[in-house]
Amino acid sequence: MPETNPYLDAMRLERGVPPCVIVIFGANGDLTKRKLIPALYRLAMERRLPPECVIYGNSRTPITDEDYRGKMKAATRQFLEQSDFDEEVWADFERRLYYLPGDLSDPEFYATLGARLKESETTTGGNVLFYLSTQPSHYVPVVQGLGAAGLARGKGWRRVVVEKPFGHNLESAGSLNRELQKVFPEREIYRIDHYLGKETVQNVLAFRFANGIFEPLWNRRYINHVQITAAESIGVEGRGEYYQQSGALRDMIQNHLLQVMATIAMEPSAVFEPSSVRDERAKLLRSIRVPKSGEIDVDTVAGQYGPGRVGTSDLAGFRHEPGVHPEARTDTYAAATFFVDNWRWAGVPFYIRTGKRLAKRITDIAIHFNSAPLAIFGDGAGQVAGPNLLVIRIQPEEGISLRFLSKNPGAGMRLRPVSMDFQYGSSFGVRTPTAYETLLEDAMAGDATLYTRQDMVEASWQVVQPIADHWDEAKYNFPNYDAGSWGPQASDAMLARRGHVWRVP
Ligand code: BG6
Repeated sequence: MPETNPYLDAMRLERGVPPCVIVIFGANGDLTKRKLIPALYRLAMERRLPPECVIYGNSRTPITDEDYRGKMKAATRQFLEQSDFDEEVWADFERRLYYLPGDLSDPEFYATLGARLKESETTTGGNVLFYLSTQPSHYVPVVQGLGAAGLARGKGWRRVVVEKPFGHNLESAGSLNRELQKVFPEREIYRIDHYLGKETVQNVLAFRFANGIFEPLWNRRYINHVQITAAESIGVEGRGEYYQQSGALRDMIQNHLLQVMATIAMEPSAVFEPSSVRDERAKLLRSIRVPKSGEIDVDTVAGQYGPGRVGTSDLAGFRHEPGVHPEARTDTYAAATFFVDNWRWAGVPFYIRTGKRLAKRITDIAIHFNSAPLAIFGDGAGQVAGPNLLVIRIQPEEGISLRFLSKNPGAGMRLRPVSMDFQYGSSFGVRTPTAYETLLEDAMAGDATLYTRQDMVEASWQVVQPIADHWDEAKYNFPNYDAGSWGPQASDAMLARRGHVWRVP
């Protein structure tokens, strides 16, 4: 057995994860294989999953527990982010992993599930976490099925975790919320946004609110603009069918990146507890200016990749990806300029960009500070505009760096940008938990701080909806960027309007 991590053990004790049953709907899906089972295995490995916990996977394919365990073992080996798969830990973990085939529209299935939940009641206290990881069209039928069978209430707590996409637009998000709330009370509905579970995103709160020196600068007087980049080098990876309906704006900006922006821009919460932190995030999301139709063409950019070349590999264009229609109008790149209408941020542009098949995989937040009020070292010294830059690297090389100007060694006063760097890996020397580990553990512990709430989801749709509608109507000339590039040129023009340029990460 591997050694346990003392920090995580302390965390577990603090938060007291209770025994429970976890029911995963969509047990053969990509997310379950890549993220959920590896995260649960990892929690078991680090003794953060109570030994009484039992996991049921549901999907329609009739396979046995043994087959399911075999498939999940192979997936966990493949997708575990660190390659320390342990046979002994897995053997213990898989004894608690069951497969429950069944049709989600069949009441019989819920009766069988109910009987199984009853069986484990003595060891789990009747606590159940239902995880909706199916196609979104199944969310409502599953929740109604659980409600009709009386499984949404029980001896212990009953919670439901809902994966994104949370609605396809403002209206469908509202109706999904109403259906969920007919069956589960709001406090038991956990809408997941895995970006909020990333250590580096959580660290933004620590960075801002646990230190005294940054917050006084964190406003329109000192910050010139903010750039949030979430670039992916991968294409749609076999998810063509889903992705062509969604596109980058709905897939990344409506949820993950507006949440990141809220984390950067929100006001400090008076206490660190779920409703208080979520109130501040929600308030910020509501303060983002909803773009007017005349502004959308200049303050947003939609893109789609065509074929390209990276190194020696030729990459297909989006329209040639499996499952994608040859004339698909989907945005695989989205960029937007947002403003926050409050006293702290009035007039400060927040630029967000995201895309598939970009030049490299990187997610970061760059805070560009105003330049010194006077260039006292003269024009020739190299005092470039806005030299102070704080970069919060979300992934892959998690860390924070602060750039400032320094005197170049030698005669005369010549300046050169240098940086102070903090790196997660080398500073802490322990593995950072994946977002799904953190969020699953939080849901079991009943801590919703890092989950989104109905008002937050709806506030982000309010912002994104006019853009999505405008883009749906527009006839963009796609493809407009090469696979492996940094996206469409129009994106540079969007920043140039205000005298800014995208930082090359
Ligand atoms: C998912 C999107 O929510 O987030 C994917 O559906 C995207 O398209 C993924 O690739 C990015 O997550 P991460 O954690 O790899 O940055």
